Amino acid sequence: MVLVTGATGFIGSNLMCKLAKDNVFPVALFRHESNKERVWKLFKSNFSDAKARFEKITWRKADFRNYPSLSAAFKDITYIYHCAGFISLSHKDAKKLLEINEKGAAFLVDLCLENVIKKLVYVSSIAALGNDPTHPIIDENTPWDNHTDKTPYAYSKYGGEMEVWRGMQEGLNAVIVNPGIVLGAGSPFEKIIDRYKKGFRWYTSGTHGYVGIDDVVEVMCQLMQSEIQGERFILVAENWSGKALALQLRKMSHHSNRVMHLSKSLLFLFWVLEHIGEFFGLRKRSLTRAMILSQYASKKMNGEKIKRYIDFKYTAVVDFLR
Ligand SMILES: NC(=O)c1ccc[n+]([C@@H]2O[C@H](COP(=O)([O-])OP(=O)(O)OC[C@H]3O[C@@H](n4cnc5c(N)ncnc54)[C@H](OP(=O)(O)O)[C@@H]3O)[C@@H](O)[C@H]2O)c1
Repeated sequence: MVLVTGATGFIGSNLMCKLAKDNVFPVALFRHESNKERVWKLFKSNFSDAKARFEKITWRKADFRNYPSLSAAFKDITYIYHCAGFISLSHKDAKKLLEINEKGAAFLVDLCLENVIKKLVYVSSIAALGNDPTHPIIDENTPWDNHTDKTPYAYSKYGGEMEVWRGMQEGLNAVIVNPGIVLGAGSPFEKIIDRYKKGFRWYTSGTHGYVGIDDVVEVMCQLMQSEIQGERFILVAENWSGKALALQLRKMSHHSNRVMHLSKSLLFLFWVLEHIGEFFGLRKRSLTRAMILSQYASKKMNGEKIKRYIDFKYTAVVDFLR
């Protein structure tokens, strides 16, 4: 049987829908009953027989911070899509990030080995790649570096991916995808898109890699069905600067092309104020140096490798900005 972790999340729920289109009805992990709603809504908007398809899903309750619950969820599982994870760029979530994304991945890998899982498709992130300034274009071979600022999220995703590579050394058949910022209805990035559509005009000057959700789940399914293993694939369709993205979104929602640059020094001023606030016990800080710097880094991701391994073409990013 197929297991989908993080089935109630943005990537997981879209994967559930793609699998259901292919008549695959997996075991799906959940934590809260109410979050199944996300999968149900997607099924309702995609299938005329949504109820019948939804009822074919086997739901199992498990938490990546609770090994026994996870272990029980592995019963009769042979193939795994790992989409569970915690996303936060905030400093205050550092401990939780490591618990879920790194230690949780260690639990996952141990259970895969113990249960002799046939294949694992693991969702990592471009955050798990190095960002050495001497590598202006980042690809799958760009080494991790500890000498540049990184967010706690990046460390947790890197640590999680290392667990998967450790598993592969111990005989696990696995393949890793490293998506850029994933776009699509319900994505964590949607709030930012909506803000621009409502007239927001500030932007930061960094460049980021983007990919559509349909492309991510398509690649994951193809990789699962293939013989490919022991590889990682950056999934980035296009790299966009903050200014180009702001202009595009404003144009699409019929706002003027007057956008304004948010300076790094202004963000650092907020960062200092947050430190002062934390010192006086007013609030916990959330901004990190790494988070600020990442908004101004001009990094280009090369997502071409996947096209040499499977029959696949990226969808244009603007199609996912609507
Ligand atoms: N979205 C992106 O742009 C993007 C880009 C690159 C990589 N990724 C990676 O893709 C993965 C999924 O991202 P997403 O956008 O789908 O995030 P999401 O919408 O926040 O979904 C996260 C999923 O993980 C589950 N989860 C969180 N903590 C858990 C725990 N302790 N135990 C069990 N399940 C847990 C959540 O369950 P609940 O419903 O119970 O909260 C939810 O189903 C993450 O690992 C993220 O790092 C995402």
